[in-house]
Amino acid sequence: MKCFLLIACVVVAAAAHDGHDHSHSHDHSHSHDHSEKSDQVRAIVKLEEPNGGKVHGNSHSHDHSHSHDHSEKSDQVRAIVKLEEPNGGKVHGNVTFVQEADGKLHVQGVIVGMPAGEYGFHIYEKGDITGGCGSNGEHFNPDNKDHGHPKDEERHAGDLGNVVFNKDEVAHVDFWDHVIKLSGPYSIVGRAIVLHSMADDYGKTEHPDSKRTGNAGHHVACGVIGYL
Ligand SMILES: *[C@@H]1O[C@H](CO)[C@@H](O)[C@H](O)[C@H]1NC(C)=O
Repeated sequence: MKCFLLIACVVVAAAAHDGHDHSHSHDHSHSHDHSEKSDQVRAIVKLEEPNGGKVHGNSHSHDHSHSHDHSEKSDQVRAIVKLEEPNGGKVHGNVTFVQEADGKLHVQGVIVGMPAGEYGFHIYEKGDITGGCGSNGEHFNPDNKDHGHPKDEERHAGDLGNVVFNKDEVAHVDFWDHVIKLSGPYSIVGRAIVLHSMADDYGKTEHPDSKRTGNAGHHVACGVIGYL
């Protein structure tokens, strides 16, 4: 989170930046495929005033020369996202990601505002939310697989399954994932996370969208994941 002039706070969407040096020997043999035609790494940011103020703008960046310095106190790499409904809807929440020593990513947080039920929860390839929750591309899928259940071999890296809201419209998110990371080719930092309007069918139904999106409906709330 960077604040400019203490007016508008933003998360810089360093989409697909794999230069995050944490001295793990990640496999960099397959490059990020974020739907670009070239090797050019690009990022975007949507500046907004918190609480709906009028200051806003867009800025694109092509600068790839700086290394990440995100002021960590420890070796534990952490990230956070604030999910919000575009146009001020009531669905919102915070989710944190902690890279554990065993390689798993601990995903934890609270999201509020949806009726009781299960709703698809996916990482999208782009950290572009300039057009609301619909401008972030497809499910993050660096291995070009079919959509699936998080525990399936055949799944998108971004397939995090469903989150469950209780009758008080609260979802307590708390799980580990073994595919997504906070650095390297499977890094989700700088990408968007989306809460959907319907349950993810895990690619298991005959619906034409099942193997692509899990037929999870539209994008209700989203945010761009940033370092913590
Ligand atoms: C998200 O975090 C902010 C800041 O700590 C807090 O005010 C807000 O209540 C949190 N939202 C949820 C749904 O937990």
